[in-house]
Amino acid sequence: MLTSTSKLLQVAQRNTYAVGAFNIYNLEGIKAVINAAEAENGPAMLQVHPSSLGYGGSPLIALCLAAASSAAVPVAVQLDHCSDADEIRSALDAGIQSVLADGSHSPIAENLAFTTEMTTLAHSQNAGVEAEVGRISGTEDGLAVAEKEAKMTDPDQARDFVKQAQVDALAVTIGNVHGKYQGEPKLDFDRLSSIRKAVDIPLVLHGASGLPAQMIQQSIQLGVCKFNVNTELRQAYLDFWRTDFPSRTKADVLDCMEATTEAMQAVVAEKLRLFGSTGKASLYEASAETVPTT
Ligand code: 13P
Repeated sequence: MLTSTSKLLQVAQRNTYAVGAFNIYNLEGIKAVINAAEAENGPAMLQVHPSSLGYGGSPLIALCLAAASSAAVPVAVQLDHCSDADEIRSALDAGIQSVLADGSHSPIAENLAFTTEMTTLAHSQNAGVEAEVGRISGTEDGLAVAEKEAKMTDPDQARDFVKQAQVDALAVTIGNVHGKYQGEPKLDFDRLSSIRKAVDIPLVLHGASGLPAQMIQQSIQLGVCKFNVNTELRQAYLDFWRTDFPSRTKADVLDCMEATTEAMQAVVAEKLRLFGSTGKASLYEASAETVPTT
């Protein structure tokens, strides 16, 4: 059931759990997310990063939308970290339901101007916008942000930004990083708590690969209702090719597609349980206009 990102997140926010948003690159990734979400009877999101969109183009978005529409559980499709207005326009024209309009590399005034323009555009097409205030470090799909360029989200700045840009969700930087954590992750929960008090829209935590269960739970209690996961899925996919495939001399193309799907599906299922979204599909059965609470 193709469902809007806003609805997915609003229901999660009201019921204190989080939706997993998983970066996908191909049919195997899409099937892994939807199979796991159906098996767990919970919602999930398919996310397309501009680098995989550069490879797959609008057919990749069409594939995500078709797979989400035929899923037995609520699934939304979002464009991840995009700082290019033309790419956002094309993705919206291709039917994507929400975008992360990412101006976090620019000074705050430019980030605000860019995000506000993208929000006006997206809302005119009934799509939603996630914004990023602060800047997350780490590496994702070849894009690296050094630690010294990273910036924690300032709660007061976040409040003003959300009010002015009228975005639908806010990605926060509280010590989370893209890619692998060097040592124990350290999240600034006092900061998250202040952001929650300043901002009432759904909060998003990027860099959820490698976060321990206790930090996930604490983040949810403090208002995070969307976690982004990419690295652990890519790792599961690559592990198959690097470790299993060389010994599977009789494996044909479909065998490999099934094996990589299953490997990624196991990761997604574990995350959905961790995020508390298992069994929550029935909360979305009310009409598109009403947002149920329990
Ligand atoms: P990870 O690198 O932790 O999987 O995070 C992915 C992400 O935040 C995508 O936007």
